[in-house]
Amino acid sequence: MKIINICGARPNFMKIAPLMRAFGKRPQIQPLLVHTGQHYDENMSNLFFKQLNIPEPDINLEVGSGSHAVQTAEIMKKFEPIVLEHKPDMVLVVGDVNSTIACGLVAVKLGVRLVHVEAGLRSFDRGMPEEINRVLTDSISDDLFVTEPSGMENLKREGVPDERVHLVGNVMIDTLRANLDKARESDILARLDLKPRQYAVATLHRPSNVDDPKVFGRILDAFDHIQRDMPIVFPMHPRTLHNLAKIGLKDRVDSMKRLRVIEPQGYLDFLRLTGDACCVLTDSGGIQEESTILGVWCLTLRENTERPVTIDQGTNTLVGTQTDRIIAAYDQCRKAPPPTDRVPALWDGQAAERIADILLRYA
Ligand code: UD1
Repeated sequence: MKIINICGARPNFMKIAPLMRAFGKRPQIQPLLVHTGQHYDENMSNLFFKQLNIPEPDINLEVGSGSHAVQTAEIMKKFEPIVLEHKPDMVLVVGDVNSTIACGLVAVKLGVRLVHVEAGLRSFDRGMPEEINRVLTDSISDDLFVTEPSGMENLKREGVPDERVHLVGNVMIDTLRANLDKARESDILARLDLKPRQYAVATLHRPSNVDDPKVFGRILDAFDHIQRDMPIVFPMHPRTLHNLAKIGLKDRVDSMKRLRVIEPQGYLDFLRLTGDACCVLTDSGGIQEESTILGVWCLTLRENTERPVTIDQGTNTLVGTQTDRIIAAYDQCRKAPPPTDRVPALWDGQAAERIADILLRYA
């Protein structure tokens, strides 16, 4: 059974790693790995392949950056001949990035079975490019693998037949659990002169937060308050870095002595950094899940989340982008450590194994 597996952007790499490993263990499965090249910087891509032992991609489409239409179209144009040449039994896509929908569309139009891992998540915010990618990918997928109960409800409501949908747990958490011991050996705290629980970590890259100077400005006002209390380490996404100067906020960032902007980090250093933080301030999807398992407060700088289990059974709080609300939530984090005994069902490190076993039914 030949499966073409797609990865393209940073959050895909942690999800594809345990799947490639699980497929590699099963002689009935012949996995091929296609990297679309949506992310291409050394520390947005290559470093993750090395640290997570992901096999070299069999094919790299090298599409690079572009507007949504250009990027999606380029991926489709370059992926179609690959499917025609390799004639896979299925194409597997993960997450909600442009590479996910682009390769999904190519597969179904060529009559190839489409598998979506991390299906069913909904923010109900159509202003997010990822929400469009999720809704569209789920609507054309043949097999939908879901991480949390809300995903099952969403797909049922949208009329997806039960037999296509499987609650299997979270492949991103497979990777976290497999790498925790190695991450503990990272010396990043010493290098940055930080003490456990006495610093915060920030990550921001959503267009709604970093493209609008008003919103980004309000968030920076909150960061200014927090950095007077403890250092904030801010591994900055290339999109955010490009924007800072463009929207006139670079000086504001430079003026905060304890807001420490660093390069995007590799997986192991970033895991150590978040695992030992007092709290994480973020607009990422994956970090809401990772901080839940790490038992670290997560303040999500958005008005909604597609991952509600991280609030019900985790350490996540939605704090929006108003300065006062962010500061109030931070003050709460300072008062007590988060609960550590709440783990969403099936987030046990075995999700990829379950997925591989289910797919074997088609072998
Ligand atoms: C993409 C995903 C988002 C995911 C994020 C994680 C979509 C719609 N969005 O957003 O869901 O959370 O990745 O990182 O697919 N750039 C570089 N080097 C790189 C990659 C990007 O400099 O290796 C710059 C490019 O100039 C580009 C910008 O970052 O303009 C944005 O990259 P892109 O992949 O389009 O989207 P992200 O904002 O990273």
